Amino acid sequence: MAPLVFTDEHDRAMEGMAGTRTGQSCPCLFLNFYAGAWPFHVPAARLSALGLRRKPLLHMDTAQHGHEPVLLHEAMELLSAQSGETVLDCTTGRAGHASALAEKIGKAGTLVCLDMDPGNLDFARQRLKNAAPTCRFFQANFAQLVDVLDAANIPAVDVILADLGVSTNQMLSDQYGLSFTIDGPLDMRLDPQLAHTAADLVNGLPEKQLADLIFNNAQDRLSRRIARGIVQARQVKKIATTAQLAGIVRSAVPYARFGQIDPATRTFQALRMEVNHEMENLSELLKVAPGRLKPGGRIGIISFHSGEDRVVKQIFRQWAAENRCEVLTSKPMVPTEFEMASNPRSRSAKMRVARMRMDA
Ligand SMILES: C[S@@+](CC[C@H](N)C(=O)[O-])C[C@H]1O[C@@H](n2cnc3c(N)ncnc32)[C@H](O)[C@@H]1O
Repeated sequence: MAPLVFTDEHDRAMEGMAGTRTGQSCPCLFLNFYAGAWPFHVPAARLSALGLRRKPLLHMDTAQHGHEPVLLHEAMELLSAQSGETVLDCTTGRAGHASALAEKIGKAGTLVCLDMDPGNLDFARQRLKNAAPTCRFFQANFAQLVDVLDAANIPAVDVILADLGVSTNQMLSDQYGLSFTIDGPLDMRLDPQLAHTAADLVNGLPEKQLADLIFNNAQDRLSRRIARGIVQARQVKKIATTAQLAGIVRSAVPYARFGQIDPATRTFQALRMEVNHEMENLSELLKVAPGRLKPGGRIGIISFHSGEDRVVKQIFRQWAAENRCEVLTSKPMVPTEFEMASNPRSRSAKMRVARMRMDA
């Protein structure tokens, strides 16, 4: 795990990094954002194979801040942050949720902002510079929550929010190598200090391990075929770019098996999860969070795939069975039709919220 770097004391070392990997609002960001505006249904994978894309939809928030916060209204309702409270945003990103939370807690409140990506954290710091609460910024993994709160001298908080995964600007930047539609180095690390890139994994792992990784992280039933394709391709030439990997995956999957989504989608998701240790981080967060929530404190987790949601559901149930919390979402909150239409990226979002018992 990357060493803890405290940036709330204005760690200027971050500045140089921010220049290279901020993923700052890109003027053409929305050009890559698809809204399905074709007059008839054409699966995205087929469009992509034909070198075509769906018509873009413009998002003010995405254009301005690089990301549109998902389930914002629902998160504010259920987390119900109050004036003067202390809030921890584990995944500050472009500060969409953080800005709304800052308004709720006001001048007397404290907002602790974490992100493992120094570029996004720097953006959030700028966006929140006139925010009313006391804001503290930490470039850290939320799995290090205990260390961060100790360093900030905050024993417990009223609200914890984790909006998992990646922000739109990260997804659409060629520097992170997260998207199979944008060519760039096959990196995928959200924290540049992480040890292994996606290229390290696809070029170094044995075939079986690669197949297991793709199957376990993304439930891709074609994982063995894809792993075989990757291993054959890397014997000819090192796999270094996203376009190269996407091409290899697409050629490993028979055209007849192309479905609604591009065959490279799951492989990219699986690799990103592995590179950034996403499932391990989530488990660690859920292990330590109750110990750092005040009685009556709320925790909300927004997840984007079934594996994450399952873990959150099980842990919340366990806490409830132990009489430690009340689960406020018997079913996960999902975006409205309107939100899904205006922000297609929100489609797979699920949010679960729990409130710790006063006597826990
Ligand atoms: C979906 S975005 C959050 C967007 C944010 N809620 C907003 O409204 O702008 C996820 C963010 O969490 C960060 N992240 C992902 N995993 C993390 C982890 N384990 N620890 C800290 N930050 C993480 C990513 O770098 C990214 O900036």
